[in-house]
Amino acid sequence: MTRRGAGPDFQTSFQSVLRPHDTAFEGVPEIQVHRPSDRASHLVLPLSSLRDEVFYRPVCAGDYSALKAAHLKAFPIDYDEAFYERAIAQDSGISSWAAVQKDRQSGQEELIGFITAQYLRLHECDPTDRAAMGLGSTLVNGQEVVYILTLGVAEAARRRGTAGQLLRLVLAAAEARGCRACFLHVICYNHAAISFYLAHSFDQLAELRDFYCIVSGRQPDPDRAQYNAYLCARHLREEGDLSAMAYISSALFPFRSLMDSWGQASGQQLAGIVAASS
Ligand SMILES: CC(C)(COP(=O)(O)OP(=O)(O)OC[C@H]1O[C@@H](n2cnc3c(N)ncnc32)[C@H](O)[C@@H]1OP(=O)(O)O)[C@@H](O)C(=O)NCCC(=O)NCCS
Repeated sequence: MTRRGAGPDFQTSFQSVLRPHDTAFEGVPEIQVHRPSDRASHLVLPLSSLRDEVFYRPVCAGDYSALKAAHLKAFPIDYDEAFYERAIAQDSGISSWAAVQKDRQSGQEELIGFITAQYLRLHECDPTDRAAMGLGSTLVNGQEVVYILTLGVAEAARRRGTAGQLLRLVLAAAEARGCRACFLHVICYNHAAISFYLAHSFDQLAELRDFYCIVSGRQPDPDRAQYNAYLCARHLREEGDLSAMAYISSALFPFRSLMDSWGQASGQQLAGIVAASS
């Protein structure tokens, strides 16, 4: 669960990360893709999920109200409109998936779970998180990690593996992109979520004091706003396998700014020439 406010959270990250649209299906080869009218497409997990009629697909515009209601139920934090808009648009490095259950009689879809995650370069992450994950070196500044912003399953649908499937979708895509790690913050009293992440090979790396400031009134003690968080992470590539490409890219890092400034300078020159000739 991300927090609102300062740090490597959703709002800060959104402002700082503006990347082209990611293909939500990248790195998820085991899933059949159906292409109905919706831009997001319907994805069907083949075996077990078909039995339960649970479908996994990218979050789309039609999910707006259900997604918001589900967040309100699942978390003590109030997320703002920008959060939902970006989770739906799947831009700014955001990847979000929905688990939907189809009513056998009416054929109506009900959102029973969701995951929202964001790809970040390590230099965009909080130094405390980086250090705890063992990814503090400036050599890996340009490498990507994936941050789980929110994950939730409707109470009635829990303990059926839905969150596990949603997490696997994010991990598969992150692995395909070459992300170094997947990480998240979880509030200290959320034992279900902590057990869930430990069961999925995440390590509980650090306890961050007063990480959350909750004033929604939905926290366990309405008179208390500050809560600690645990940083949990799972490495997706071994610490030692800083590849030749990463070395080359880090070695080029100082020259990149030189090339950028050359690009800007020549752009300015060009602008000057155009202005002079018009
Ligand atoms: C945490 C949460 C997402 C788990 O969803 P879920 O669909 O029930 O999880 P899964 O069925 O995939 O669980 C997989 C494993 O996680 C662990 N786990 C999940 N819920 C647990 C619980 N309440 N107590 C102990 N272990 C739990 C178990 O090891 C479980 O395997 P098992 O059922 O075979 O024992 C769900 O409880 C939830 O939505 N909570 C509210 C929102 C939240 O806290 N989100 C996480 C904060 S980032």
